Amino acid sequence: MAEQPAGAPADTGTGNVPYAVELRGITKRFPGVVANRDIELRVRRGEVHAIVGENGAGKSTLMKTLYGMHRPDEGTILLDGRETTLRSPADAIAAGIGMVHQHFMLADYFTVLENIVLGSEPTRGGRLDRATARRRIREISERYALNLDPDVLVEDLGVGDRQRVEIAKVLYRGATTLILDEPTAVLVPQEVDELFGNLAELKREGLTVIFISHKLDEVRKVADSITVIRRGTTVGTADPRTTTSRQLAEMMVGSELPSPQTRTSTVRETPVLQLRGLTVASPGGRLVVQDVGLTVHEGEVVGIAGVEGNGQAELVDAIMGLRPLSGGTVLLGDQDITAWSTRARREAGVGFVPADRHRQGMLLEAPLWENRILGHQTRPPAVKGPFIDRAGARADTARIMREYDVRAPGPDTLAVALSGGNQQKLIVGREMSSSPRLLIAAHPTRGVDVGAQAAIWELLKDARAEGMGILLISADLDELIGLSDTLQVMLRGRLVATLDPGSLTPEQLGGHMTGAHDAAGDAA
Ligand SMILES: Nc1ncnc2c1ncn2[C@@H]1O[C@H](COP(=O)(O)OP(=O)(O)O)[C@@H](O)[C@H]1O
Ligand SMILES: [Mg+2]
Repeated sequence: MAEQPAGAPADTGTGNVPYAVELRGITKRFPGVVANRDIELRVRRGEVHAIVGENGAGKSTLMKTLYGMHRPDEGTILLDGRETTLRSPADAIAAGIGMVHQHFMLADYFTVLENIVLGSEPTRGGRLDRATARRRIREISERYALNLDPDVLVEDLGVGDRQRVEIAKVLYRGATTLILDEPTAVLVPQEVDELFGNLAELKREGLTVIFISHKLDEVRKVADSITVIRRGTTVGTADPRTTTSRQLAEMMVGSELPSPQTRTSTVRETPVLQLRGLTVASPGGRLVVQDVGLTVHEGEVVGIAGVEGNGQAELVDAIMGLRPLSGGTVLLGDQDITAWSTRARREAGVGFVPADRHRQGMLLEAPLWENRILGHQTRPPAVKGPFIDRAGARADTARIMREYDVRAPGPDTLAVALSGGNQQKLIVGREMSSSPRLLIAAHPTRGVDVGAQAAIWELLKDARAEGMGILLISADLDELIGLSDTLQVMLRGRLVATLDPGSLTPEQLGGHMTGAHDAAGDAA
């Protein structure tokens, strides 16, 4: 096949200078899965090197190996040309490698300073030497244009700032090679641009950045070179200046990129969900959702756009009965369900794909069949008379695995062993299996590979065509614009704009989300 662009390894342009990072023949096996097979990676000092691949391709595993979290079964790691054994992240940090994980690992109720120094505190007489720490953080912040205030609480920061705290934390430990695992997955376009500005700054200072993504346009914008991996193995390297997104996509998935686009409207007149004056207060009394009114009809996808942290999560919780309201009503069809329990809502026909599948959607340590009946314990296939029907649950799990292409050994496999995409397909399959009238889908394809994403899009489109009403919360602007019949923008707890997805670009939508776009509108 012609997917290995010729000549890439030969032309290193480095002369005698060794690579900052070179991985040779890395293989990493987990029970039943070869996560990395004979991977080759060469990263030059001072470059931004992108690693692209579908979810489940093995990117995070490879990076965790480089960060000392996994020991490879085979292969060698060379840092600046020297063979190195990394037994732990502490070893990696000592060797100048830092990693910002896909999910941030910050403590909300601590300050930026405390989060950054946590685990590597300069001390004076056994106590944290705040003055020294503050000075070093200010230096790092200025030098790399991170714009951080050491004394604010992390809780009060937006996603982009939290990410910069993570980056500062790694720099504080002296990293010269930074690994960023899907850093843009949680950002809006404007924040992505800011992050890219930060990366350019790091590069200018001579640092090396390994940037993981599956968004090809982004990768082409920011990377100096690209390594593509598919199903655990290297399929090639590419030069972003001469490779198109389509060529990259073909290397990545072996076929064309799918699209979320729906065409004809299937919106009917009957409302399935009506929210009136919905208001939610935080435990501290702040109004996090204010006077939200909206209607989802049968066959309609209503999308909610917004920068994370503007009340979407609380809105979803309120609709699902997971959080008390301080005002307003929720109608399912024409029935007032405001006072109903979550279970009663589910049984009345509300499906739920939660944003945080690890906290709300799955039991990671439990087998898939138990996850199949999670939240559905009162009906077949979970029960037969008064008993849990294990055989029935297993059989139905096997059906979902077949129909929804959940790749795993079988219903008894533990959920934790699945890639994010496969976990998500199982959740979507489970929720669809009770044929809900209304689906609350929060970030249904977040952290999911292109193939699984396309599969989930198709499921949502089919459900819509059959009359299901869908409330879609997403940070993927193409997904929101493509799938939605109606788009609402949520900002500081309120719905501030109703937009027509038929004539909207992601950039325009991003403008509305940050409030930059208000009354001026996007007419031109
Ligand atoms: N700790 C683990 N135990 C078992 N299997 C794992 C573990 N981590 C990853 N895997 C499996 O390895 C494969 C690659 O996963 P991962 O490296 O997370 O992919 P990516 O980051 O490209 O999405 C997947 O099939 C995943 O299920
Ligand atoms: Mg990953």
